[in-house]
Amino acid sequence: GKFEPSIYKIGCTQAIKNKWIEMGKSAVSRKVQHVDDRVRDLLVQIQKGEEVSAQDIDALKRRKLISSQIWKGFSVKKGPNYTPKRKKMATDLTREHLQRGDWKEIEFKEYNFLAKGQPTDGGCLHPLLKVKRQIQLIFLQMGFEEMATNNFVESSFWNFDVLFQPQQHPARDSHDTFFLKEPSTTRSLPEDYVERVKQVHESGGYGSRGYGYEWKREEANKNLLRTHTTAVSSRMLYALAQGKFAPKKYYSIDRVFRNEAVDRTHLAEFHQIEGLICDRGLTLGHLIGVLEDFFSRLGMSKLKFKPAYNPYTEPSMEIFSYHEGLQKWVEIGNSGMFRPEMLRPMGLPEDVQVIAWGLSLERPTMILYGIDNIRDLFGHKVDLSLIKRNPICRIGLN
Ligand code: PHE
Repeated sequence: GKFEPSIYKIGCTQAIKNKWIEMGKSAVSRKVQHVDDRVRDLLVQIQKGEEVSAQDIDALKRRKLISSQIWKGFSVKKGPNYTPKRKKMATDLTREHLQRGDWKEIEFKEYNFLAKGQPTDGGCLHPLLKVKRQIQLIFLQMGFEEMATNNFVESSFWNFDVLFQPQQHPARDSHDTFFLKEPSTTRSLPEDYVERVKQVHESGGYGSRGYGYEWKREEANKNLLRTHTTAVSSRMLYALAQGKFAPKKYYSIDRVFRNEAVDRTHLAEFHQIEGLICDRGLTLGHLIGVLEDFFSRLGMSKLKFKPAYNPYTEPSMEIFSYHEGLQKWVEIGNSGMFRPEMLRPMGLPEDVQVIAWGLSLERPTMILYGIDNIRDLFGHKVDLSLIKRNPICRIGLN
C-alpha cells in the first residue's frame, strides 16, 4: 500500500532506528520476520488501565501520544458510628432521664470549654457617658461636688443677666439662642437680687461703671434652652451667697443648646464640662494651677493660655493643649475669674473670688474614640453598633 509522505517519513525513521528495514540504493529490504511494536503495546496497556513504568509514560508524554488527566473518586461505606436514625446527644441530665432510666443509654455531649458563650443582651454605654463618668471621677478625686443640672429650660436672667452679659449682646439673639414659645417667660425671680443686677448693668458699682443702658425686665424674663452650664454655676453661687460663706469646689457635666448651623464639628446641642472654685484670695495663679492639675489628669499636660474675653470673667483665658497625634496646639477650653459685677450683687463677700473653666464633652470624646464627624457620635445618624462595641474609656485609668 501507499502511505502519505509525512507518515511514510515517520514510519521510515522509526523502522530504520529499530533495524526492521534497510535502505538500499534503489530498494528497501525487510530485515526481520516479526515486528514488536512497543509503542503500540504501551498505548494499548494504558487504554486498558494497566500499570506502565514512569519512564515509558515520560517518553510517551514527550511524543505527545498521551496526556495526563486527574480523576477523583470517593468511596462511601458505613463507619463505626453508623446508624440509620439521627442520634440526639443530651446536653444535660434531667429528671426525666432519671425517671425513664434512659440515662444509662443516652450519650452526653462533651463540654466545649472554648465556647465564647451567648452575647449578652444588656444595655451599653454611649462613649459620651463613658468619658463623662471618667471626668466625673477626676472631679471627685479633686474634691469637687456636683451641681444639679436638671433644668434645660432657664430664664435669660440666670443664663445671661446674672453673668453681666448686656441685653444687646449678640449671643442673646434668636439666631444664637433657642427661646421658648410656651411658657415664654419665667414665673419668678428673687426681686431684691434682680434690682442689684439691673443696677450693675445700668450704672455699675463695686468699682465698675456698668454698661450705661436701660436694663429691661422683660428681656430677663424670657425663657430659653440654656446656652451654657455657667447658668447652673450662677444659680449655685447665688445660693451659696445666701448663707454664711464657706469655700466650695463645684462641677457639672450636662447638656446645653445653641442655635447653630450643623456641620461636622457642631450640633445645636452638646455637653459642657464646667468646674469652679470659690474661696477667699484666689488669683489667676490658682486658676492656672488647677487647670494644669485637671487637664494633666485627662492626659493633657502641655498647656498654653491665651487672653480671651467673656462678659463675666476678667481676666479670661482660652486653654490650648498640644495634641501629639495632630502635632499641633488645639483649643480645649475657656476659663477665667468671675467679675465682681457678677459676684458682688449676689452678696458674696468682697474678698471672695471665683475661678472657673468650661469645655465641651464632645471634643475629648471624639479625640479619644477617633471620631471626626460629630454626627457619628450624637444624634439620629449614630450607628447602633458603635454604641454596642465601643471600648472602655482610658482617661483617668492610668
Ligand atoms: N461659659 C463658657 C462657654 O460657654 C465657658 C466658661 C466657663 C468660661 C467658666 C469661663 C468660666 O464657653
